[in-house]
Amino acid sequence: MLLGLQNVTFEFGARTIVADATWHIQPNDRIGLIGYNGTGKSTLLKVLTGQYLPNKGTVEKGRETTIGFLHQDLLSFDTEDSILEVAMGAFERVKQLEKEIEEIGKQLELTGDESLAHDYADKLHELEVLGGYDIHHKTEEILQGLGFTNDSLQKPYKQFSGGWRMRVLLAKMILMHPDVLLMDEPTNHLDLPSIEWLEKYLQHYQGAVVIVSHDRYFLDRMVTKVVELYQQELHFYTGNYSFYETEKTQRVDIQKKAYENQQDYIRQQEKFVERFKAKASKAAAAQSIVKRLDRLERIEDVEIERPNMRINFSVDKQPGRILCTLKHISKSFGDVKIVEDTGAEIDRGDKIALIGANGKGKYTLLRIIEGVEKFTC
Ligand SMILES: Nc1ncnc2c1ncn2[C@@H]1O[C@H](COP(=O)(O)OP(=O)(O)OP(=O)(O)O)[C@@H](O)[C@H]1O
Ligand SMILES: [Mg+2]
Repeated sequence: MLLGLQNVTFEFGARTIVADATWHIQPNDRIGLIGYNGTGKSTLLKVLTGQYLPNKGTVEKGRETTIGFLHQDLLSFDTEDSILEVAMGAFERVKQLEKEIEEIGKQLELTGDESLAHDYADKLHELEVLGGYDIHHKTEEILQGLGFTNDSLQKPYKQFSGGWRMRVLLAKMILMHPDVLLMDEPTNHLDLPSIEWLEKYLQHYQGAVVIVSHDRYFLDRMVTKVVELYQQELHFYTGNYSFYETEKTQRVDIQKKAYENQQDYIRQQEKFVERFKAKASKAAAAQSIVKRLDRLERIEDVEIERPNMRINFSVDKQPGRILCTLKHISKSFGDVKIVEDTGAEIDRGDKIALIGANGKGKYTLLRIIEGVEKFTC
């Protein structure tokens, strides 16, 4: 058993997120966990990691199973430590061992105690088994794979943009190499080249991967199973996202037909009861039909429950054709240039995709347009 839920119910106060859910995650699974906004996907991952305890049922986890959990809340983490140090946080045990070895080494010099010497040798051995001698090298390699240059490795984590921070955390998790990777919207902050890198990496990952994502194309390429959280239940599909879509339409049709058939049947039976319940000769038959209807397991109607969302940006008065003009704009942070002597025009009705690699300054540019970021011209 790697990781799973056994008849788990989880509630936030009166609100049931999931009821009586059973789910077994197998080694090397590639699972997409999907569902509308607010159905409880992130919550479910927290139940799996043990961060939240279920109200009923159990979370089952193998004694040796290690879990890695990548999520957006991690981005609020902030530190002056260099990105190399942050990523090397993956090797907690190794670092602890190094400290212990140093301590014991000092004592050993003073006392020459034999049991200490044994302890020392044991710890050195463990360090070697854990590959403790090349953690530096391994960390650098992964960070470089994710696009960090050699001289950026010593820079404080704090100084990086959201997308680059996400990459550092990704590197840390990859170095920990957990048996199960839980990823809550991993592509949110990543630019296209790093998403491609992640896809390639995950395809060969030796372990199970559960991905929460609203990106159907990413899911289509990444997963071979889909678990949908819908109406407080988990629904399982053996295929990628496209498979899920066609299969779900069929399931909904089947359920709808079954529901309608049952409703017809119920109506007929009720009519019979109405007609004959007062007739002595048929009263017994009517009575038994009533009993049968009571016992009947009712099929639920399909509710295509979609978030009822209407977004309306209303404007007081129609603006002119040109909404915003940038002329000869320059902006830099220290020696990092964001834009230099550049211009642009935004017209009414434009639909513009602002693209660019992580950390190039998309957010800064939006802030300049909004008027809250200083610049020179
Ligand atoms: N700590 C909490 N206490 C109470 N309610 C919460 C808490 N965290 C989340 N919720 C509620 O639980 C529900 C599920 O939230 P969750 O964040 O798990 O949804 P989600 O499926 O991940 O949504 P999204 O797709 O928007 O990320 C929401 O209604 C949310 O408001
Ligand atoms: Mg979420």
